[in-house]
Amino acid sequence: MTANGRERLKGRIAVVTGSAQGIGFAIASRLAQEGATVVIADVNEAVAREAAQRIAQAGGTGAAHRVDIGDDASVTALSAALDAQYGRCEILVNNAAISDGTGIEKMTMARYHEVIRVNQDGAVRMCLAFVPLLKKAKDARRIVNIASIMGVRGWPDAIPYSTAKGAIVNFTRALAADLAPHGIMVNALAPGFVNTPMSILPDGSHEYDSDWFRDIYVKYGRIPLRRYAEPEDMAGPAFFLCSDDARYVTGQILLVDGGASATF
Ligand SMILES: NC(=O)c1ccc[n+]([C@@H]2O[C@H](COP(=O)([O-])OP(=O)(O)OC[C@H]3O[C@@H](n4cnc5c(N)ncnc54)[C@H](O)[C@@H]3O)[C@@H](O)[C@H]2O)c1
Repeated sequence: MTANGRERLKGRIAVVTGSAQGIGFAIASRLAQEGATVVIADVNEAVAREAAQRIAQAGGTGAAHRVDIGDDASVTALSAALDAQYGRCEILVNNAAISDGTGIEKMTMARYHEVIRVNQDGAVRMCLAFVPLLKKAKDARRIVNIASIMGVRGWPDAIPYSTAKGAIVNFTRALAADLAPHGIMVNALAPGFVNTPMSILPDGSHEYDSDWFRDIYVKYGRIPLRRYAEPEDMAGPAFFLCSDDARYVTGQILLVDGGASATF
């Protein structure tokens, strides 16, 4: 029994990668509030355990599992463990990613491949390992890939990251077509600018609190809603894509960006 939720996902197993913190944690918390058993699948096992405890304290059910989505063996081990424990998976949210601020002139191919291995191949790897578990589920089956506004718009100094997110966008469409005969809906949620640990710069400052961000995005309304997002702003849209209400929604990219992509 959850404290606030309507339990519209009761009895469903939801795996959310990278949900120890940030957007993933907000999504995992919301799915748990709606009655799902949530697997906090993160490379940072200690923080994942704390996240599972916070979900339990709020009245939900969460279990922490370590996974490195950049590694075949680690992902295979996770799907095998969950198959043994639950025998199925209704919801897979591919959220984990690493940040990157590399322009083409500073980029090395080693760095490019590192970001692609995690941010692009990680979601593909998870889908490959989890589609058999999704097929074993009876209730609404859902995959939600977390893309980015940078996957649909160009952005300087983020070549590997933007390339990976662009690939996630079209991977989502192709996979949706591929899995439609199995009744598995595949969509992407593309956040705009969200206040998470990922948006903290190497010098400790917050990217979205900088003067240039305030000027362009807030003062001059490049984000029509004139604020950056909090992780919780992503939770409701992600829940919708996981819910029964999304039963005829597949292959879509839901931009949750305060209207930023609607303007120029
Ligand atoms: N923060 C933003 O402004 C923003 C904007 C658009 C899209 N996004 C996307 O949203 C998602 C979540 O971002 P966030 O801002 O919450 O990030 P974050 O850095 O706060 O959290 C990312 C989580 O992923 C985990 N992780 C990293 N590498 C992993 C790996 N190899 N295997 C498993 N777990 C791993 C981390 O331990 C962490 O818990 C990402 O896909 C990101 O690209 C973020």
